[in-house]
Amino acid sequence: MSTPASPDPVRKPMNLHRLREMHGKGEKIVMLTAYDASFARLADAAGVDALLIGDSLGMVMQGHTSTVPVSLEDMIYHTRIVARGNTNAWVIGDLPFGSYQESIEQAIRSSVALMQAGAQMVKLEGGGWTAPVVHALTERGIPVCAHLGLTPQSVHALGGYRIQGRDEAGAATLRRHAKELADAGASMLVLELMPSAVAADVQADNPGVMTIGIGAGSRTAGQVLVLQDMLRITRGKLPRFVRDFTAEGGSIEDALRRYVAAVKDGSFPDESIHAY
Ligand code: KIV
Repeated sequence: MSTPASPDPVRKPMNLHRLREMHGKGEKIVMLTAYDASFARLADAAGVDALLIGDSLGMVMQGHTSTVPVSLEDMIYHTRIVARGNTNAWVIGDLPFGSYQESIEQAIRSSVALMQAGAQMVKLEGGGWTAPVVHALTERGIPVCAHLGLTPQSVHALGGYRIQGRDEAGAATLRRHAKELADAGASMLVLELMPSAVAADVQADNPGVMTIGIGAGSRTAGQVLVLQDMLRITRGKLPRFVRDFTAEGGSIEDALRRYVAAVKDGSFPDESIHAY
């Protein structure tokens, strides 16, 4: 039987101001996905700065082959139970496919539902077309994390889980979209599966935005991984950019602490595998 999360006397609850301070000082931001109270509690206690209730739960929790089938109701449920297990980490709720594409009004309604379930920030996928949505949400006091590069909700349009921004035109498009999202008010930006040099350019173009990389090299403000991947619960071949933090043995807590330490000291990710 798990015990309720008790406040860590040393760590202070994370907020946007503190995240920005960390970014300003060059301290790496450690993000990890979480989908339930018990893992949220463990990740938080290990020192993870931000918990992402990713719609990747459709694949790792629900057994789908993509994130497309995940509903807003699913996200509300998982956000609620993660928030219950968490004490200090910043909580980000993913807007699932179909919950923000129709209109700005729909995006506001969906975001309000996630915030009321315990999210402190919402994440949405997509390029420049989402800028008016980002603007509307931030104006209404809802912090936004945008998501560029490989955007899994668009897997069918992208033709699979492929590296983005490899050629000059693709890289320029990513940089333009990032600028539009930053100008619209996004405070954070997940950069997924793109050359390290492109991610570094996006960060340099938008110094005030906290870029969080996944398969995008080490020159971002922080890193995120899917919990099941870094704990090697995911079966089959893992993407090259994932490190198995259980490989050195020990407990789940040890693996989570190793992940936090490796992101903070810059030893994860390994830059050499992100040249693409
Ligand atoms: O859904 C998710 O978990 C994500 C991360 C992989 C960034 O979007």
